[in-house]
Amino acid sequence: MSIAEKFVTMEYGPAPEDPQEALGWLERHGRCFGHFIDGQWQQPAASEYFETLDPSSGEKLASVAQGSAADIDAAVSAARAAVAEWQALTPHSRARYLYGLARLLQKHSRRFAVLETLDNGKPIRESRDIDIPLAVRHFYYHAGWAQLLETEFPGYVACGVVGQIIPWNFPLLMLAWKIAPALATGNTVVLKPAEFTPLTALAFAELCQEIGLPAGVVNIVTGDGSTGEALVKHPGVDKIAFTGSTEVGRSIRAATANSHKRLSLELGGKSPFIVFEDADLDSAVEGLVDGIWFNQGQVCCAGSRLLMQESIAEPLVAKVRQRMSMLRLGPPLDKAIDVGPIVARVQLERIRKLVDQGVAEGAACWQPPLALPAQGFYYPPTLLSNVHPTSVVAQQEIFGPVLAAMTFRTPSEAVELANNTVYGLAACVWSESINVALQVAAQLKAGVVWVNCTNLFDASTGFGGYRESGYGREGGREGLREYLQPEWFQNAAQLEPAPAPAEPLEDSEVERSAPAIDRTVKLYIGGKQARPDSGYSMEVRAADGRLLGEAPLGNRKDIRNAVEAAHQASGWAKTTAHNRAQVLYYCAENLGQRRDEMARRLAAVVGDKQAAAEVEQGIERIFSYAAWADKFDGAVHNPPFRNITIAMNEPVGTVGIICPREAPLLSFLSVVMPALAMGNTVVAVPSEMYPLIAGDLYQVFDTSDLPGGAVNIVTGYASQLLKVLAEHDDVDAIWSFGDEARAAAAKSLSTGNLKQVWTNEGRAIDWFDRKTAEGRWFLEHATQIKNIWVPYGE
Ligand code: NAI
Repeated sequence: MSIAEKFVTMEYGPAPEDPQEALGWLERHGRCFGHFIDGQWQQPAASEYFETLDPSSGEKLASVAQGSAADIDAAVSAARAAVAEWQALTPHSRARYLYGLARLLQKHSRRFAVLETLDNGKPIRESRDIDIPLAVRHFYYHAGWAQLLETEFPGYVACGVVGQIIPWNFPLLMLAWKIAPALATGNTVVLKPAEFTPLTALAFAELCQEIGLPAGVVNIVTGDGSTGEALVKHPGVDKIAFTGSTEVGRSIRAATANSHKRLSLELGGKSPFIVFEDADLDSAVEGLVDGIWFNQGQVCCAGSRLLMQESIAEPLVAKVRQRMSMLRLGPPLDKAIDVGPIVARVQLERIRKLVDQGVAEGAACWQPPLALPAQGFYYPPTLLSNVHPTSVVAQQEIFGPVLAAMTFRTPSEAVELANNTVYGLAACVWSESINVALQVAAQLKAGVVWVNCTNLFDASTGFGGYRESGYGREGGREGLREYLQPEWFQNAAQLEPAPAPAEPLEDSEVERSAPAIDRTVKLYIGGKQARPDSGYSMEVRAADGRLLGEAPLGNRKDIRNAVEAAHQASGWAKTTAHNRAQVLYYCAENLGQRRDEMARRLAAVVGDKQAAAEVEQGIERIFSYAAWADKFDGAVHNPPFRNITIAMNEPVGTVGIICPREAPLLSFLSVVMPALAMGNTVVAVPSEMYPLIAGDLYQVFDTSDLPGGAVNIVTGYASQLLKVLAEHDDVDAIWSFGDEARAAAAKSLSTGNLKQVWTNEGRAIDWFDRKTAEGRWFLEHATQIKNIWVPYGE
């Protein structure tokens, strides 16, 4: 139609939510899709397909290939074959591809928004105004990082082939969060979309073809959990990035423990939405609508626990109910709809079951009088009040439009309630007092805190969890680190397997052989020397086989005492960085005063030359971390809203460290000092080769103003103590250095509580080389980033 004709008819063009383009796209593909492997559409090896449905009607949208192990194998091979060519491109060329993808996605944003709403059921307003623009922004932002990679990350290389598994709640956005940083850093990708929502990933595959992305750089294999499992287990994959349920995250952790695959997990949440009495209640209610009714509450960071200060609970609940009554629920392609259907019948049943359980446990359930459409998987917005903090609806992720309300009296009670969860993904704080809001934000154990706002995301600002919400960040500079590693580390040789430990000695034997021994040390717990619980010791021999001394064999009880002492010393995290630096300098000074006797003793095990070098470099290493203590700062981001985000480097908490066997003194200091410098408390197991350094070290610590419990030393067999530390729920991270078997053990033993784990993957680290043995790489593991979003303006 010409413009002149348009003037005559004055007809409107298609509305942005018009489904014709998306439906036309489906028809063009005959509503049947294969996998996208090696730059081409391929039929599934087993010729099996499944249906993807429209949750607003339950009707079939398309048939999609069910990926088998053979399909995954083909995709991983294609990705592997593409690595060299992709990495040989200049950063600028990679940047242009990412930029091209962003442009094309933007151009086809209507198709993507409608397709997302058809497949997932989310209101078109959300897919059109939030999901797709954020996905586009992610590609633009990472096009920039691709351009800057060489200069901003010198000495770092890509992991290689990355397996990525995404959920159904933000299908295209999660794809963008995964693919953009992976490609920007020079990795190639095999992505498995969720079985409920594969369509936008397939539409994205077409864009990859359209811009001429080299074949094999992005591969998309559709299927269910078994397809994901095949990807996780494939030996040709170097890294797995997963977003989804904590349960599946845990199984992926177990499945990858015995490999060198890097792993980042973005898992569930039960995020608190805290409203103080001085909050602007009307704004808080609007925030709550975004917090829990956005995407029908199927959001990992949904503000699903409303914590209200007691004095305003009544008026707030009244306002919430009134606002809930105004929510419009219905077919999601209607742009006036607030709440669409739940993604699938199985999820709907899950929500119903959990709400029934909550009510059985005493919660009062209120739902506005909204008529539910006759067809489709709808669940009404729901408010549960009178919820006990231990109730299933206060603890478990419901993943539906269900809000569980509780009250508190004081800010400290709010913090306690908020942190009373195994999760730690996000939190909201509503208060007109910046002091209260930031004070509370700092105490919340969550990767993201929104002050007087909710569910804001941006590519510049990392997103990810604490505790069982997973680890690793997506977005920002920190998100790139998940896809990179130091080049030297990638090429480091594997250590020889450690020798089996000698038989333990009973104390009576020790006494009999006493004349040959010139040294016996104790454990160091809570700033005091402590006798071991077991009454057993391990003998320590010189390089020439001479018996040098005895070290206590620590056991489960000693570790428990040490962890308790470490927790009691949590004030160390709150001391100023300047003070922590001072204490570390003092440690270096005191080590300096003992350098000759320490070197003399150590020389019996490692020889004169190495002993002297370990002591001298040990002093330097402590100096380095004293220097870093007040310099490893966070950042302030400027997302494209009226917000700043404060990215704070927080200590991880209590870190259990199995120290390296080699270079006993220098390696101990190389791993314990960065943890301490950042405010962590430590339970360290020194090298089995020379645990007697404990004796020298606790004298250094005792005289250096280090608060008791900040460092605890438990000598003994690393394999046994690792198990106790890894399984201990109050240990926040495990760092384990040793041979390959030790690395695998550290990962699998800490799977149950999903604690952060860092190992040397059995590789050799040159502790005498500052380039490999100190610096940011260590500090990054000693911290986790919390992003606090603070709005400004009226
Ligand atoms: P899920 O964790 O089973 O699915 C997420 C992805 O993992 C999908 O692509 C799925 O095919 C894949 N997957 C499933 N089993 C796998 C395995 N063994 N190995 C590798 N990949 C596997 O989530 P589901 O069942 O769809 O939802 C169940 C609950 O999980 C929800 O009610 C919600 O509580 C939580 N969830 C949390 C999400 C988040 O963003 N944190 C997203 C989706 C679900």
